[in-house]
Amino acid sequence: MLELDRLWTTHRPYPLRRAKPPTGRTRSLIRYTDRRNSTVLNPRSYLTEDLWKQAPILTGTTRFEPREDARNILVTGGAGFIACWFVRHLTLTYPDHYNIVSFDKLDYCATLNNTRILDGRANFKFEQGDITSPADVKRVLRKHHIDTIFHFAAQSHVDLSFGNSYQFTNTNVYGTHVLLERAREHGISRFVHISTDEVYGDVPIGAADLSETSILAPTNPYSASKAAAEMMVSAYRKSFKLPLITVRSNNVYGPHQFPEKIIPKFIMLLQRRRKLLVHGDGSPTRRYLYAGDIVDALDTIFHKGDIGQIYNIATTDEISNTDICHKLLGLFGLAHETPTNLEKSVQYTEDRPFNDQRYATDGTKLAALDWHPKTSFDDGLRRTVEWYRKFGEVWWGDISRVLTSFPVVEGTEIWTKEEHEALPSEDGVLLDVDNVADGMIQTRTLPGALE
Ligand SMILES: NC(=O)c1ccc[n+]([C@@H]2O[C@H](COP(=O)([O-])OP(=O)(O)OC[C@H]3O[C@@H](n4cnc5c(N)ncnc54)[C@H](O)[C@@H]3O)[C@@H](O)[C@H]2O)c1
Repeated sequence: MLELDRLWTTHRPYPLRRAKPPTGRTRSLIRYTDRRNSTVLNPRSYLTEDLWKQAPILTGTTRFEPREDARNILVTGGAGFIACWFVRHLTLTYPDHYNIVSFDKLDYCATLNNTRILDGRANFKFEQGDITSPADVKRVLRKHHIDTIFHFAAQSHVDLSFGNSYQFTNTNVYGTHVLLERAREHGISRFVHISTDEVYGDVPIGAADLSETSILAPTNPYSASKAAAEMMVSAYRKSFKLPLITVRSNNVYGPHQFPEKIIPKFIMLLQRRRKLLVHGDGSPTRRYLYAGDIVDALDTIFHKGDIGQIYNIATTDEISNTDICHKLLGLFGLAHETPTNLEKSVQYTEDRPFNDQRYATDGTKLAALDWHPKTSFDDGLRRTVEWYRKFGEVWWGDISRVLTSFPVVEGTEIWTKEEHEALPSEDGVLLDVDNVADGMIQTRTLPGALE
């Protein structure tokens, strides 16, 4: 077992080497490999034994008569937030019925700590692999005789999608396409595709909650990639009669969520006695579901839902970003009632390039299957704060840069926005410096760079 202080990060304080202006066309390619001041997270690092044993085993609460047509279940993104809850739930609730294979590329936000409790269980396996690799997907489907797929793996952070949108299209659209195609070739009895309420786009204040038949009108690269993935799902359902179910969930929060998302990020900022970084004016609202509740919803849909259907997983707990600040400041015992008090703990930053004001979906269809959220927002938030106070600093490694406003992520490497902007123009990529005008280096990333 590695020591805790060696586990988490590899800071790479390499000296900055500035790009020199090229002297002639003969030096047409320059490779800049220096990095500085980044954090590299290692999702394979384990918590120390003593600390890990204190972690609660968190699952959902439902249990159904197991399905006859399901035995070997592939869960993509199983080392990430929501899927790790679902993997723990299925593995521990149905030990004699379902074999669970968690399939994850181990991206920056993943950690094997999320499913470590299951290591050694006869009905659990972890497989590292990439959904955008047809070979990886084929291998895992065959090796484990998969009959059921729950597809969670995605680039899931809206903020990052504004700066790195190709990655979102690649993972969320192409990755989903690869899974669908491989599932078609392999043959499966059920494929549950996890989508989001964000595919519907902004819902004006006062407008009715949207049902599953509403049009999709995504507004940012993340939600557009999720909507595009749904189009592939729909096509495979029609063209190939693939047994698909799509779910569109509200925002989910709870223990195990990577602290790039607002609730865990704010908890960890308060834990570090830092100001909360609120984008824009803090007025946008979201509806929040506790992680245990979405697990119950997915378990319900798996056992009682109909193939070919779309289900909203919806709550009515609608909270603005400013409300989240108030609630968390209250839980940390910090004064927040007056604007002066609030100013001491909250810093308003630039907003996203575009931010939907609210999402609002109607959950009647799933309620008919007898699922209802059980955890109130206040209860869920209290439980979440307790978990992060104990484990937030160690679960993923050094999250200092994650807790800044608009950090930049490449692979498992993270910078603050300011550090990234100060890097040599195209740190780490091959530059085409043929296009030199007025001492400026015009760059384009060349195919094959860094391979
Ligand atoms: N978190 C929310 O509030 C929310 C709400 C609605 C829907 N969703 C959807 O639920 C799913 C899970 O969201 P989350 O918040 O748990 O995400 P997350 O970011 O915590 O986890 C995503 C996981 O996918 C893995 N992954 C990424 N690219 C991969 C690839 N190419 N191959 C294999 N694995 C890969 C990552 O390593 C990570 O473990 C996503 O599809 C997301 O769109 C999330």
